[in-house]
Amino acid sequence: MDYHELINKAEQTHKLAGSEIVALLKNEEYQEELAQAADRVRHVFVGDEVHLRGLIEFSNICKQNCLYCGLRRDNKKVERYRLSEAEILDFAAKAKSYGYKTVVMQSGEDMHFSVDILSRVLRKIKKMDLAITLSIGEKTYEEYKAYKEAGADRYLIRIETTDRELYEALNPGMSFENRLRCLSDLKRLGYEVGTGSLVGLPNQPIESLARDLLFFQEIDADMVGIGPFIPNGDTPLHNAKGGSFLLARSFVALLRLLLPEANIPATTAMETLDRNARIIALQSGANVVMPNVTEGDYRRKYALYPGKICISDTPAHCRGCISGKIMAIGRKISEHKGFRCHANSNK
Ligand code: 5AD
Ligand code: SF4
Ligand code: FES
Repeated sequence: MDYHELINKAEQTHKLAGSEIVALLKNEEYQEELAQAADRVRHVFVGDEVHLRGLIEFSNICKQNCLYCGLRRDNKKVERYRLSEAEILDFAAKAKSYGYKTVVMQSGEDMHFSVDILSRVLRKIKKMDLAITLSIGEKTYEEYKAYKEAGADRYLIRIETTDRELYEALNPGMSFENRLRCLSDLKRLGYEVGTGSLVGLPNQPIESLARDLLFFQEIDADMVGIGPFIPNGDTPLHNAKGGSFLLARSFVALLRLLLPEANIPATTAMETLDRNARIIALQSGANVVMPNVTEGDYRRKYALYPGKICISDTPAHCRGCISGKIMAIGRKISEHKGFRCHANSNK
């Protein structure tokens, strides 16, 4: 196989067959070239601006029991918390003061936040002229509709893996069908929809990762966030191997080649494995960073996986840190809300 030709084809046509994706993900020698092609496509389609999204982790209480996740309901070791409405609004106002144009409201599947409570919070945040991304798990069509009407613009819900059997084995009590239903309801309601997967799960061959990429392309995802699976000692997968940084990086590069217009974050989980990972990801196709704006001990308690970065840093420090790094590689911090671009779709 001529890998150089393959990368060229992906850069020009944004199309690859599953077997071609597998070949590229497996070939370590061409990783650099793959990342460079993705970096060029990123420049042409979404430009040099990096969008910063302020992340508010507003509750780590979750009714689900995903085998990989530290917030799973059976984990008795994690100290649970739920922010008050006043705290959420305070963190959102601070995100605004740091210049972030979007807040990402993320939590476990915490049943305390009824439609009434959360809609009220969303309406207040909306008055601050911020774009709002929700990341709160599986809800009904009616609930998604209510949140959209209250001002949510975007929604993140990872498919985690497109292997139905693996999905249902890793997420006891959850169904792959319902996950798909969530994605299609959100799209139908006019949200910008973000999804993504975990890279390096147990029993997840490269072929399965290739199918994930084709799935994101098929549903025309507006955003795709991926990260390496990092085994958590307080979960049933404590002895699993975990994903590698390099595989996650190639996955990001292929995402950009196949979905040239998508917003693609350089994720915190990647940085857990390599201290410069977010910058490397930004130079391999990514164009978004989600700095944490949650304050104090909440950061440590929102423990999806071990080794999470920035747990002792303040939001102000992270703002300066990440901006400095982004500018040092010659990129700009966006001053816009950073919706998914469609302008270049005929390219
Ligand atoms: N390693 C990496 N990412 C994880 N997530 C949950 N647990 C882990 C882990 N152990 C990710 C899931 C989820 C997101 C909020 O966090 O992909 O969608
Ligand atoms: Fe809950 Fe999400 Fe963790 Fe699953 S991945 S246990 S739904 S917080
Ligand atoms: Fe938090 Fe660098 S982004 S310390």
